Amino acid sequence: MKEKILITRKVFPSIVGRLQEHFDVESNDADYIYAPDELRTRLQGKVGALVSATEIINAPLVQACPSLRAVANIAVGYNNLDLAALSAAGVVATNTPDVLTETTADFGWALLMATARRTGEAERWLRLGLWDKWALDMFLGVDIHGASLGILGMGRIGRAVAQRAHGFGMTVRYHDRAPVALADEKGAQFCSKEALLSLSDHLVITMPYDPASHHTIGRRELALMKQTATLINISRGGLVDEDALADALADNRLAGAGLDVFEREPFVCPRLLANARVVATPHIASASLKTRLAMADLAADNLIAALGYGACAGQPPSPLNPAVLRT
Ligand code: GLV
Repeated sequence: MKEKILITRKVFPSIVGRLQEHFDVESNDADYIYAPDELRTRLQGKVGALVSATEIINAPLVQACPSLRAVANIAVGYNNLDLAALSAAGVVATNTPDVLTETTADFGWALLMATARRTGEAERWLRLGLWDKWALDMFLGVDIHGASLGILGMGRIGRAVAQRAHGFGMTVRYHDRAPVALADEKGAQFCSKEALLSLSDHLVITMPYDPASHHTIGRRELALMKQTATLINISRGGLVDEDALADALADNRLAGAGLDVFEREPFVCPRLLANARVVATPHIASASLKTRLAMADLAADNLIAALGYGACAGQPPSPLNPAVLRT
């Protein structure tokens, strides 16, 4: 008899098919988000789970699901997983790095350009039929070429964002816990967080989120930014204090914000939504068909291998707690 796994959200049929070759699969084709009680109930007797960022896998849940041996996240960010609790219970956790790096960096630029050049605001205005004449001062934005780009978090995605800046002749600076070895991002300068905030014309957040990085951008940080700057977040909403950001935008202390992530998704702070200078998208930075397929495929590879099946049995490609595999 096959072991049982749970797929907590709707995934591509090809992925379900791959998992069915090895497991007895229960999948959530209706694609609603399980309440914690339902998730706990559905995980009973399951050895593995393919989850998304919408599922919170915390210590009480892990303790209530003793049959669980592996959790594969379809996301590179894993703030929804309590790694310590999973490791303590001997459950392998995995994520989906690399396959989404370039697509996510592309989208960071899409948001940056839309925010700096006010494309959403201008398009909404045009569609409302308000364009009766051209004017010299219509929708004046801020330049991208030759500007100063700041990157907060110089990991894989930060480096891919930096690489793309060369075509725009930008000065690139970054901040991270320490300087990182850079290859193709020639000229990207490490600087303090304060210098990054005060010198950047466009600031892109690409750092991971955890309790320690909560509200990395708050009132103090926003006050250090240029009044003409844009703030772009493609990481996790909790990195930015949304109330403070809404205040800064309302007081014209910032030119605009491009946000793909929010503190309480899918809720979006109404003051941010009401501000025309905010470009808001529903957490889609990695959403090209090719990349979302690759993420789901990698998550399936991880789950199959972590549970001891397939050609890479016992060696999932991207484990988050590899020590568990050695025990
Ligand atoms: C998306 O937000 C991811 O972490 O992959």
